[in-house]
Amino acid sequence: IFGDERKNSAGINIDIESQWQPFSEAVQGFKEHQWTAGPIINGEHLDGNEQPVTAPYDRRESVGIVAHASAAQASAAIEAAAAAYPAWSARPAAERAEYLQRLADLLEANTPELVSLCHREAGKTIQDSIDEIREAVDFCRFYAHQAATEFAEAKEVTCFDGTSKLLSYQGRGVFVCISPWNFPLAIFLGQVTAALAAGNTVVAKPAEQTSLIAHRGIELMLEAGLPAGAIQFVPGTGATVGTPLTSDPRIAGVAFTGSTETAQRINRTLAARDCEPAVLVAETGGQNAMIVDSTALPEQVVRDVVRSAFASAGQRCSALRVLYVQADIADRIISLIKGAMAELAVGRPELHSTDVGPVIDKGARQKLLTHIESLKNQAKLVAQAKLDETCQHGDFVAPSAFEISGIDVLENENFGPILHIVRFKADELDQVIDQINNTGFGLTMGVHSRNERTYCHIERRARVGNCYVNRDQVGAVVGVQPFGGQGLSGTGPKAGGPHYLYRFTKDVFNA
Ligand code: SER
Repeated sequence: IFGDERKNSAGINIDIESQWQPFSEAVQGFKEHQWTAGPIINGEHLDGNEQPVTAPYDRRESVGIVAHASAAQASAAIEAAAAAYPAWSARPAAERAEYLQRLADLLEANTPELVSLCHREAGKTIQDSIDEIREAVDFCRFYAHQAATEFAEAKEVTCFDGTSKLLSYQGRGVFVCISPWNFPLAIFLGQVTAALAAGNTVVAKPAEQTSLIAHRGIELMLEAGLPAGAIQFVPGTGATVGTPLTSDPRIAGVAFTGSTETAQRINRTLAARDCEPAVLVAETGGQNAMIVDSTALPEQVVRDVVRSAFASAGQRCSALRVLYVQADIADRIISLIKGAMAELAVGRPELHSTDVGPVIDKGARQKLLTHIESLKNQAKLVAQAKLDETCQHGDFVAPSAFEISGIDVLENENFGPILHIVRFKADELDQVIDQINNTGFGLTMGVHSRNERTYCHIERRARVGNCYVNRDQVGAVVGVQPFGGQGLSGTGPKAGGPHYLYRFTKDVFNA
């Protein structure tokens, strides 16, 4: 599945005028468009509790309306998915995969609309929006290819006693997929397509902030010919829709991406059901660090720090939160970071020149501003980027960097463009790694060092899912950097990796 016969989506290179010009015109065509979304049960579009959707970069701009599902509709969605499960799981894996390949083609064909929707609803920059659609396409093709090649036929397995048996994989039943707003199409479709490819039927609940793009993804699935019973869509709040879904005894599993606290709550809800235990696949938070020693190349470090901490307004679960830099080169690195931050263009995400767009909503902005204020009282402000006048009607947070004493002073993950910097001495390296491990999170880590012994040592001692050496630590590519954490950061297996699909299956041995 990592081989030649499966290729990732090519996307669009916005730095090449001949690609950017027609693409940007096509995206502009959706500038005034208003989208509507609501529950879809058995292919039927239903009414619900209507909520306006506005653009994070300018709250005066309407993007559309989403109708939230009720608890009764969530229950009806499970009923419908359960009824569709026997027929869907009985289809050959290659046939299930064909629907997902068709979906991938439709996503590519609709890229301008999806890019417009992504930046208008989620506030992502054009580059991030293009990457978002590409990743969604890559997940579809990756899981489709794997299901078609690995689940197509029962495999003959020879056992230690010389007998042979047939090993096959089947779906588990109804999977509930609960996705985050920071990858509103890619992670949404990643979870859903994995569950479907493995032979499950799905009830999907997107993040409240980004239901329009998720709804568009479901419409394209239906356009691809997917049987309507296989995918049910219930936008809405965690309290009205999420809790009833996860406490329902008819579900066989939950795929969740979001906060560690919510994953723990889902885990408790699943455990409290008096029925067959369900599987939980959770990708959760992080307190991601980068360690830079004195052999690192300063210019490369700064480029990778700025991208890791501030790209996507710091709203990636992989994003850098705490930079540990060896004291010998700290002044130089910090001065370069200051210079780079002074150049960051923060503003409207549809502009080619924008580096950092808004955060997702008012609540997120308020939390981040509170954290910045508290740091101003107890830590040293290194730099703060400027917000231009276009930011005044949106939920923007100025990228900020502070020097702090250690990762242990941070109580929570701060999900936005805030970088914390810590100086360490050469003989403190192991203490630094232990401090990072002691947070209990283990998602990404960055290392910058030209000393092979040092980076190999850090890789061995650190307890993280994805460790990146001498590069940035964001933007895992499907099938290239399987993505997922350890400890408080998630259950695994890694999305876009060789083992993810198997978690959505039952393995059956026939003698
Ligand atoms: N997969 C994303 C990244 O690697 C994070 O969610 O940046």
